[in-house]
Amino acid sequence: MDNKNLKIGNITLKNRLLLAPMVDVTDSAYRELCRDSGAAMAYTEMIVVDSIINENEHTKKLMKIDKSDKPSGIQITGDNIESFRKAIPYLKRYDIVDINCGCPSSRIKECKAGSYLLKDPEKIASIIKLLKSAGLIVTAKIRLGFDKDESIRIAKTIENAGADAITVHARLANQGNDVPADWKKIEAIKKSVKIPVIGNGDVFNAEDAKNMLDICDGCMIARGAIGNPLIFRQALEYIEKGKKTDISLKENLSCFKKYIELSKNKDVIDIPRIKYIGSKFIKGARGAAELRNKIMHLSKYDEILLFVEELIKKCD
Ligand SMILES: Cc1cc2nc3c(=O)[nH]c(=O)nc-3n(C[C@H](O)[C@H](O)[C@H](O)COP(=O)(O)O)c2cc1C
Repeated sequence: MDNKNLKIGNITLKNRLLLAPMVDVTDSAYRELCRDSGAAMAYTEMIVVDSIINENEHTKKLMKIDKSDKPSGIQITGDNIESFRKAIPYLKRYDIVDINCGCPSSRIKECKAGSYLLKDPEKIASIIKLLKSAGLIVTAKIRLGFDKDESIRIAKTIENAGADAITVHARLANQGNDVPADWKKIEAIKKSVKIPVIGNGDVFNAEDAKNMLDICDGCMIARGAIGNPLIFRQALEYIEKGKKTDISLKENLSCFKKYIELSKNKDVIDIPRIKYIGSKFIKGARGAAELRNKIMHLSKYDEILLFVEELIKKCD
């Protein structure tokens, strides 16, 4: 694969690296941090379509996008076609609408959404056709199957329904992260469909990202970007110039500070979220366990900001 860009519908991304949608992580502040570091695309966290049409206040916050959030992406899930139909007017402002067909949480599966949709690829196809008929650019993020691998059949159904791209998290819905993502399945899907295939699962460094791009069209990063947004810069330097670079603790902590400040500027402050994400940024610091414990006991925005400023000073 030697093309530098990834085209989804009529949108050409500036490179082939994408930030994965992540509940409690990819708010607009975190998306901006990762886009600044080089991610070509980022999505809201997964949002259930019924909460969109109910105009739930919390959901409205999650759905907010601003000028820096381009191309914009929303990830949605649900089980009721009528709810997807009603959600269409709210989806029109996004460049790309991604359908979550992979979430394994029991709360979501009980609603017959997320990975439950993998049991009924025709239903996924109906959702795609509906959204495409409204003129939207539509992608689907799948796992390999619900409890057995049916990935080729699912991917072909999604392609035939008119999807503009497919993201494959190369695990079954009943597999945890202790089971390695099966990239061979991503390769097989890439050979079976013509729409762009974005590979996802176990990309933790620049080399992993390059290897993923060798087998498919795009590389989506989730856990590898939590507390490590500069992974996108590192990956681009490696892919484009063959350069392997390190990130200092000071630089990474400065990213955390920026995240905290962006949260305020964008009015998306969520203290538990900031603390969770902060604990991941601290990972490489000396005495990380103690520092994590400290941050978890803070409760005010200014306290957390001061805490990270002092940590940054100590790096000098
Ligand atoms: C904290 C967290 C939240 C997640 N939330 C979502 C989500 O909202 N939508 C989604 O499609 N996948 C979600 N995922 C799954 C990731 O997008 C990704 O598919 C999975 O973690 C595998 O990629 P990785 O190995 O790069 O982490 C989440 C994962 C994590 C760790």
